[in-house]
Amino acid sequence: MFSLKDRITLVTGAGSGIGAAIAETFAKAGGFVFVTDRDEKGGRETVARIAAQDGQAEFLPLDVSSEADCARVAESVHGRFNRLDVLVNNAGIGHVGTMLTTTGADLDRLYAVNVRGIFNVTKVFIAGMVQRKAGAIVNMASIGAVVGVRDRLAYVTTKFAIAGLTKAMALDHALDGVRVNCICPGRVETPFVTGWIKKYPDPEKAYREACATQAVNRMGRPEEIAAAALYLASDEAGFVTGTEFIIDGGFSAGK
Ligand SMILES: NC(=O)c1ccc[n+]([C@@H]2O[C@H](COP(=O)([O-])OP(=O)(O)OC[C@H]3O[C@@H](n4cnc5c(N)ncnc54)[C@H](O)[C@@H]3O)[C@@H](O)[C@H]2O)c1
Repeated sequence: MFSLKDRITLVTGAGSGIGAAIAETFAKAGGFVFVTDRDEKGGRETVARIAAQDGQAEFLPLDVSSEADCARVAESVHGRFNRLDVLVNNAGIGHVGTMLTTTGADLDRLYAVNVRGIFNVTKVFIAGMVQRKAGAIVNMASIGAVVGVRDRLAYVTTKFAIAGLTKAMALDHALDGVRVNCICPGRVETPFVTGWIKKYPDPEKAYREACATQAVNRMGRPEEIAAAALYLASDEAGFVTGTEFIIDGGFSAGK
C-alpha cells in the first residue's frame, strides 16, 4: 500500500531483527535499500534475502559509533545516487542493570551507540536533505522512551534521549521538508530479547513473563514494527513529525 518506489533508503543495524525486517519491507515497497551493520555476515544475509525476492539492496559496513565509518558510508551513498531520501536509525544495544549494578562504562557504551550513533549518522545526511527540502528520518526508540522499565537504567536513559533528539530535530527541520519521528516498540522477538532471556536461570519462565508485560500476552514480530517504519517513511505520513509512535501490544496502556 505505502510505496517507496524510486526512494533511496538506508537502515542501520539491518543485519538482524527489526532492522532486517525494515530493510526487507522497504525493498518490497520498491525502495533501494542500503543495508548497513557492523556485523557484515548478518548484513549480507539481509541483502541476499532481498535479492532473492527481486528487491534492490547493497551492503555497506557501518559501525554507527564511528564518525569515520559514517563519513565513508555517506561518500558511498552520495557517490552512487547523490542523495538519501529515507534514513532509519535502528542500530541499538541493551544492558540489564539498576543504578546499583550499572557502571559509568556501561552507560558510555550504550550512549555511544544508541544516542551518539544516531547523531553521527544523521549528521552526514541532514544537510543534503535540507538542501533538497525532502527527507524522512525514523529513529528506533523503545517503550523505554515513554515509560520506565525496571532493571534497564542505562537503556531507558538513552532511549529517552532519542525521543528528545527526535522532537528537537523535528522542530528544527519542519519547514525544511524533513520529517523526524521515532518508533517505540514494546518487546519484540529478536536476538536482542532472546539473548537476555537465555541468561535467566529459567528461560521459559522469563519468556512467559516478558510476553505477559504486554496486554496481548505475546511479543511483537519484527514485521509489525517494520510496517510502522514504512508508513512513517512514506508520503502518506506527510503530516507526521516529532511523534513517538508506540507499538507495544498494550505494554504502556496500564496494568
Ligand atoms: N527487540 C525488542 O524488544 C526491542 C524493543 C524496543 C526497541 N528495540 C530497539 O530496536 C532496535 C533493533 O533491535 P533488535 O531487537 O532488532 O536487535 P538485534 O540485536 O536483533 O539487532 C541489532 C542490530 O544492530 C547492530 N548493531 C549493534 N551495534 C551497532 C553499531 N554500533 N553499529 C552498527 N550496527 C550495530 C547489530 O549488529 C544487529 O545486527 C534497537 O535500537 C533496539 O533498542 C528493540
